[in-house]
Amino acid sequence: MSGKYATETLDVDEGGIARAAQILRDDGLVAVPTETVYGLAARADSDAAVARIYRAKGRPSFNPLIVHVASLEQARSLAEISPEAEQLAARYWPGPLTLVLPRRRNAGLSAAVTAGLDTLALRMPSHPAMRLLLESTGLPIAAPSANRSGFISPTSPAHVLASLDGRIDAVLDGGECERGLESTIAAVRADGSVEVLRPGPIALEAGGSSGERIEAPGQLASHYAPGKPVRLDATQVAPDDFMIGFGSVQGDCTLSARGDLAEAAARLYACLHEGARSDKPRIAIAPIPERGIGIAINDRLRRAATPAD
Ligand code: TXA
Ligand code: MG
Repeated sequence: MSGKYATETLDVDEGGIARAAQILRDDGLVAVPTETVYGLAARADSDAAVARIYRAKGRPSFNPLIVHVASLEQARSLAEISPEAEQLAARYWPGPLTLVLPRRRNAGLSAAVTAGLDTLALRMPSHPAMRLLLESTGLPIAAPSANRSGFISPTSPAHVLASLDGRIDAVLDGGECERGLESTIAAVRADGSVEVLRPGPIALEAGGSSGERIEAPGQLASHYAPGKPVRLDATQVAPDDFMIGFGSVQGDCTLSARGDLAEAAARLYACLHEGARSDKPRIAIAPIPERGIGIAINDRLRRAATPAD
């Protein structure tokens, strides 16, 4: 896809991080590796930069962004961190947990980041390249997954370029993402209760997983879509299926032959990307056990299988 940018690929070294930091300071867009998926980063305190994220992704303006921070102190300057939220942050940050918290007014964030909500989604990532960028810029960084809105999330630079080449300034090449699924999103309520809004790598006891029931209007059931029909819980392969296997069910791409759910999570989007690219008109996916990270895998698969309207 060609656009008005020549998208640079940057190495994760001193020069690459410095260049990425400069692009961000100048209101540009850089796809960055995180431990979950690649994020499309822009400075969260700039209206122009945040507007570019929505434009590059084709994302509806009512769908708010996660803001990434380097420290708890920076998080405190942007949102109100209750004792319950503080406990979760102490336990899981840096890492794949996003907390939805009451936002502070006048924190200097672009209004488009929160899409008119009174809450703010915050995450402190653990990936070393993303941490270096956060620390070297000192900026709060908004970063949704680095894919066109509604399509498959990226876990490699090639996945990012498959949908955003020419639409963003650069991609910072950190190789493949370790976890492979987006962060768990948990809202911490005023009464201290915790509700899981999106299941992910961190299984929280409280709330239970209610699916990605995002409190922004119009959150779409169809998401992560490979652009062709997807059949779940498949144990038989039809001739026109691109089969995604798991355990004893072998596939054209197999999530984990030994039935390991963490390995399956890390490979899920790569297999979906491969299925999307293949000549086969359909994708079929073996049953995935509904436990642990399997809950988040099945959540993403159900959305991938829901046709867009
Ligand atoms: O692992 C991740 O979370 C990745 C990496 C890049 O950090 N990011 C990510 O962003 O998955 P995105 O934009 O693809 O998904 C963020 C989700 C969206 O469904 C959005 O609606 C929801 O978070 N969200 C953002 N702010 C929210 C808020 N204040 N309340 C409820 N949901 C919110
Ligand atoms: Mg996304």
